[in-house]
Amino acid sequence: MADPTNLDLELERAADLLAGCTHNVVLTGAGISKESGIPTFRGPDGLWTKLGVPAMDGYQKFMENPRGWWEDRLAQDANPDPDMENFRVQLEAAEPNDGHRALAELERMGVVSHVITQNVDDLHRQGGTESLTEIHGNTSWMRCMACHARWPEAEIIVDPEDLPPRCSQCNGVVKSDGVMFGEPIPPYALQRSQLEALQCDLFMIIGTTAQVYPAAEFPQIAVRRGVPLIEIDPDPTALTAIAAVILRGPAGELLPRLVEAVRERQAV
Ligand code: OAD
Repeated sequence: MADPTNLDLELERAADLLAGCTHNVVLTGAGISKESGIPTFRGPDGLWTKLGVPAMDGYQKFMENPRGWWEDRLAQDANPDPDMENFRVQLEAAEPNDGHRALAELERMGVVSHVITQNVDDLHRQGGTESLTEIHGNTSWMRCMACHARWPEAEIIVDPEDLPPRCSQCNGVVKSDGVMFGEPIPPYALQRSQLEALQCDLFMIIGTTAQVYPAAEFPQIAVRRGVPLIEIDPDPTALTAIAAVILRGPAGELLPRLVEAVRERQAV
């Protein structure tokens, strides 16, 4: 039974589980990037708390008129909304923190098999994580809506006279890779995440309120299979009640401590 008031004990329990697992899957959310200077979505300083939740019909509008969507985007790039511009600057300036780096180290140590992230900020990749599913996409990438090919944004030439940009492989319409409200999760990301939830023998959630689906479903699939769930978050989440181990605190402090505790176990 988890005791979130006893951090040292919960760290030991988490390290025991990590040292003994064979396939640990991790779901991360905005909280792991907070110490890189990127705001979360919910809570007192959250982006949605400040700006309101975006309209749910963003994807529908894109599909109805991709050219119009691209024209609006180029116009916004030229004359950005100050709050969104601030978020964009924070994303661009952000660097991986100790939490991202420790998670990548756990992968190298063989105790993290796959990371599913809801974050669009690229920081897991920059921090060294290799086995990664970006279930909500990546704002610095582009994606073909037909064949699902993905490219770093810099590789796509956006010609304002010939919108929308087209896929070099199949001529499909190209969109920013970030998953919009109302947009289905790309099938490769959904299938990989489901497979990971069905294969794992340990699941960790880090820095997510676990309120957004389908992402929040994956740890629940694992728990229904009898897999223990470790939660790392300064505050309770929607899945606290089903967590076997609860580490209360910032990921940037707790994940490096976990690395050390697992290393001690691997050394004996
Ligand atoms: P939320 O803003 O809902 O949750 C952030 C979580 O991070 C909260 O549980 C915080 O307590 C926790 N947190 C804060 N600081 C932390 C720290 N230093 N270390 C660890 N945890 C910390 O963000 P998400 O759950 O990621 O989707 O939100 C899910 C989705 O909702 C996002 O991907 C986004 C949004 O709508 C899209 O834009 C498609």
